[in-house]
Amino acid sequence: MRTVSTVDQLIGNTPVFSLTHPLVPENKKLYIKLEQFNPNFSIKDRTALGLIKKAFETGKLQPGGTVIESTSGNLGKSLAMLSASMGFHLIVVVDPKVSRNSLNWFKSFGASVEVVDTPDSLGGYQTARIARVKELLEERPGAYWTNQYDNPDNPLYHESVTAKEFTQFPVDMIVGSVSTGGHFGGVSRGIRAIHPEIRTMACDVTGSAIFGTPFHPYLLNGLGLSWRADNTNLEDFDLLNSVTDQNAISLCHIIARDTGLLLGGSSGVVLFSALKALRYKNVESVMAIAPDSGINYLEQFYDDEWLIEKKVQLLTIEQIKEQLDAHVDTYTSV
Ligand SMILES: Cc1ncc(COP(=O)(O)O)c(C=O)c1O
Repeated sequence: MRTVSTVDQLIGNTPVFSLTHPLVPENKKLYIKLEQFNPNFSIKDRTALGLIKKAFETGKLQPGGTVIESTSGNLGKSLAMLSASMGFHLIVVVDPKVSRNSLNWFKSFGASVEVVDTPDSLGGYQTARIARVKELLEERPGAYWTNQYDNPDNPLYHESVTAKEFTQFPVDMIVGSVSTGGHFGGVSRGIRAIHPEIRTMACDVTGSAIFGTPFHPYLLNGLGLSWRADNTNLEDFDLLNSVTDQNAISLCHIIARDTGLLLGGSSGVVLFSALKALRYKNVESVMAIAPDSGINYLEQFYDDEWLIEKKVQLLTIEQIKEQLDAHVDTYTSV
């Protein structure tokens, strides 16, 4: 039995689930790296730890200092957890769309929350939130902006630390998702340095602009962006694949009912892509990185009323299988 004395020691070394399911082609192997087993339930615990450790090491953050980040998602939750254990104060900058659940999550760990309620000229809040971060940094000399989208410490941590958890596991392909590009860009670079024969496939939700297609709104959150962050370099990957909201959400429901695994929406995107990759002739085994748990989405795509309101019709396992078998060659090579 492992004994630890700080929560950061609980981060990483997540379990791997070997999926037996009718959607997995016969004699092929699908492994799922379950990042929901981090202490604050997502892969962002690793990112937050990497960013904070580096900031302390380089003196950009002093003990008792202040960290500021614009986020209403998993990174904010992870930073809030670490602020309670690693001796810094966190200010999370959010907009009015933030859920009550997330607000309470940040506050439970003692973080402060700044709500930006005036949208920018295009009606969104992204640039308004960044502007507020910059104001807060001026008001608080010595405060540190983790800046997950553009800070190279994000992928560098995953390249040097997270990737090591994959190098001992022989598979033909590793599949992951992108938003900032931090975790999977880093993992892909780290894997390629040691096992250049393992191919990597980056996945995104259809509608996101990261792979260069025009942006249109999508339902999933956690992955995707309306632009490409500095931390995403498409050349870090061998293949790119986009998955629709409907396919990802339907697959999450199927997996929950058939296996007892409650996965988040980006995991649905990753799993759909991994199942597709397993249909390539030269791919016998795939590792899929599942970033978070469905617990974050119980009031969203696991909620019947939400599905009706958003006009999402769940596909059956046969319909998903048809899609997987039909689109075997639609991936993009980088
Ligand atoms: C649930 C989920 N999936 C995927 C991602 C994408 O990770 P990254 O920002 O490292 O590209 C995130 C990032 O916030 C996330 O929260």
